Amino acid sequence: MRKFIYFLMLCCFIAPQAFAQISQQWRDSINKLNTEDHQAMKKLLGITELRPGPSGNPDAPNAANTDESKASPYTSLPDPLIFKNGKKVTTPEQWEKRKPEIFEDFDREVYGRVPANTPAVTWEVVGEKDTVIGDQPAREKFLLGHVDNSAYPAIKVDIQLTLVTPADAAGPVPVIMEFGFIFPAHWKMPKPDGPTWQQQLLEKGWGYAILIPTSYQADFGAGLKEGIIGLVNKGEPRKADDWGTLRAWAWGASRALDYFETDKNVDEKRVGIEGLSRYGKAAIVTMAYDPRFAIGLIGSSGAGGAKILRRVFGEQVENLAASGEYHWFAPNFIKYAGPLTPNDLPVDAHELVALCAPRPVFISAGSPAVEGNWIDAKGMFLAGVHAGPVYKLLGKRGLGATEFPPQETTLIKGDIAFRQHEGGHTVGPNWPVFIKFAERYFEK
Ligand code: GCU
Repeated sequence: MRKFIYFLMLCCFIAPQAFAQISQQWRDSINKLNTEDHQAMKKLLGITELRPGPSGNPDAPNAANTDESKASPYTSLPDPLIFKNGKKVTTPEQWEKRKPEIFEDFDREVYGRVPANTPAVTWEVVGEKDTVIGDQPAREKFLLGHVDNSAYPAIKVDIQLTLVTPADAAGPVPVIMEFGFIFPAHWKMPKPDGPTWQQQLLEKGWGYAILIPTSYQADFGAGLKEGIIGLVNKGEPRKADDWGTLRAWAWGASRALDYFETDKNVDEKRVGIEGLSRYGKAAIVTMAYDPRFAIGLIGSSGAGGAKILRRVFGEQVENLAASGEYHWFAPNFIKYAGPLTPNDLPVDAHELVALCAPRPVFISAGSPAVEGNWIDAKGMFLAGVHAGPVYKLLGKRGLGATEFPPQETTLIKGDIAFRQHEGGHTVGPNWPVFIKFAERYFEK
């Protein structure tokens, strides 16, 4: 499949029309394979029917709800500070015992379990050069993380990573790692008005890294028998509680951090993770599961990320569980789109934020007028609000607000931060605010 993707990328250079045609055929065949695997997972779970999700098109007759008065019929938001046996968590020591209960629920029912023995990764620096990013002189390193595939040589996995640090750095620097999209060759990224996020970080004297999640786990169900998930399963289909793509992507981020621990240009105690949209989901999963990450910038992550799943607003569990997105999760998660409902989930997104405590997390959203309502900014804000008591228990500060603030209100005084910027589906306008927030932790 990988060779075929390279071939498609090549076509893109040569003949855009031929590319469009082939890529449509390719998408159709991928969709067919996604549906087949999705069906197989439903069969595994004994599910015959799923409730369909609402439409992301606001003009469609079945458009997702955007009416706040109909948004929150949930009565059962789980309390992160109550043990399964009903006892209250009142001390940081008790929280340490409560955390595994919450992880277990997320593992089994939502994101899936990372296999006990994931193969080792050997990092190779495949290229290195002096460069200038904007007006910032920097050192750029290209890396490949070779995943040991001796147990199943039919699947080869290499993690792609780029690390850029200021050329004149006197010692190890903080690094923010982004889960990076690969855009088609003819795609022109809109240029921001001011300096790019990369320039802003370098100007600060910090570095950045870009990890390519699809280099080690494809972003569709048909790819689950390949990549790191397929390698560990030796090409076989997943079990009901096996990891989904989000956890696989987060696993790769942890392997990149393993590398940073060995690179003298990086201060591994000051490494942050950032992502947008599906990669915003991956970023919060990374933060929650790997306590070595010092800070998170969670961009428009929406449902499956920082948004309360029980909220009937924007994207719903029924959308996530359908054949286009179910691969992000454990197969078990599909159950919550039929026969179960989102109210049956043993956990919700505020507990994912809580698992990041006491470390700082910045929840970012765009303007509903530009970005739309699919990602449900208020649902993400509320996850921050309801994670607050855990931060407080650990001697930290939550959001410092319980009412959803007007757009462009900057809530960065606590250890959970929130800001809905004026732009669209991007982290862009929030970068300078995030950097200010991160200074508090990185420049102590
Ligand atoms: C879709 C999907 C979202 C996701 C987004 C993206 O809109 O429904 O859950 O966040 O794609 O990643 O771009």
